[in-house]
Amino acid sequence: MTATDTNLEDQLVLEREHWVDGPPHALFRELRQGCPVHYTREVSEFPDEGGFWSVTTAEDVHAVSRDWQTYSSELGGVTVISSVFPVELARAMFIGMDPPKHDRVKALFQAGFTPKRIAAHEDAIREIVKRTLDGLAGRETCDLVNDVAQPVVSRVIGSFMGIPKEDDATWARLMNSTLGAGDPDLNPDGVEAVMEKEIPEIFERCGRMISERRENPTDDLTSVLVHAEVDGETLAEHEIVMGFFLLVAAGNDSTKATYCSGMRALLEDPAQRKLVLDDPGLVPGAVEESLRMFPAFAHFRRTATKDTELGGRHIKEGDRVVMWYVSSNRRTSLLPRDRARAPGVAHPL
Ligand code: HEM
Repeated sequence: MTATDTNLEDQLVLEREHWVDGPPHALFRELRQGCPVHYTREVSEFPDEGGFWSVTTAEDVHAVSRDWQTYSSELGGVTVISSVFPVELARAMFIGMDPPKHDRVKALFQAGFTPKRIAAHEDAIREIVKRTLDGLAGRETCDLVNDVAQPVVSRVIGSFMGIPKEDDATWARLMNSTLGAGDPDLNPDGVEAVMEKEIPEIFERCGRMISERRENPTDDLTSVLVHAEVDGETLAEHEIVMGFFLLVAAGNDSTKATYCSGMRALLEDPAQRKLVLDDPGLVPGAVEESLRMFPAFAHFRRTATKDTELGGRHIKEGDRVVMWYVSSNRRTSLLPRDRARAPGVAHPL
């Protein structure tokens, strides 16, 4: 079914058929033009979850993102389907909190993310990438996700957190099955198995790293979290575990997805690929373009704290409001046409 077959209002945005070949860009384009704040009344795979609003333009995504008093991250979690990522887990991470608690916890984490601390990793990251690519020498083909992106992102975030190299594959498995809980390729044992097996294993492994650092501080980010202090306050144990989870999950998934999608776009477009190969100076532009076109996370969700209005639609207290970055990053009045023409990865919008 395509958007033109049926009334836009009746579209069910989250039906699996729309997503088999990636995000449904044609549907989102039509929504941006004809129904930019759209209500999906049900998700057939999750009949108990009810409906949700789709926010599809950059202007509206900005408005929702900035107005935490009206659109809460804490009330209902940050994923459209609550049962694949329970709200209790989301709330234990600062991405699932609202101010002022969000800002207090985030300030503690930021001790580990000063520009100086990040810059100090640059040479090591270069080494990790070089080593990974050198490991492919002599091969005719490789799997970009599993042979390049996964080992690189695992070691980069692993070195930030103080995870021993030999545990990279284990953490990659834990993160892939937790974040891809509904994806049989990444998590063949199903959603319940994640709660029964993976989540306890994450807590157990992380708890061990925390107690080691309580005894013997190190210079990694886990130790920063264990000992961080703002106005005399430190993080509670479960806040450290969930903060660790948030960073390892984000570090594992985000850059891997954006890098692989950007590379695929280049591989599928020989002319653009040649441009970048001939002039490596275009790489930074291609990276920015990849971030815009393939924003790693298709969406994050908010929950309305009161009755409100967005794009002329009446949103009721308690409604789910989904910000579709895969849509809002595509052409709108905030992103003039020529931004989409940055050389390197230029796709029709
Ligand atoms: C391709 C790269 C990335 C993209 C596209 C991306 C995207 C996003 C987006 C859209 C949010 C906002 C969520 C919201 O408003 O609810 C977010 C939050 C966050 N991201 Fe990323 N991210 C990327 C890489 C990373 C990496 C590498 C890390 C950590 C190592 C990270 C850690 C976080 C954290 C901790 C938050 C929560 C911030 C807060 O609540 O204030 N992200 N990310």
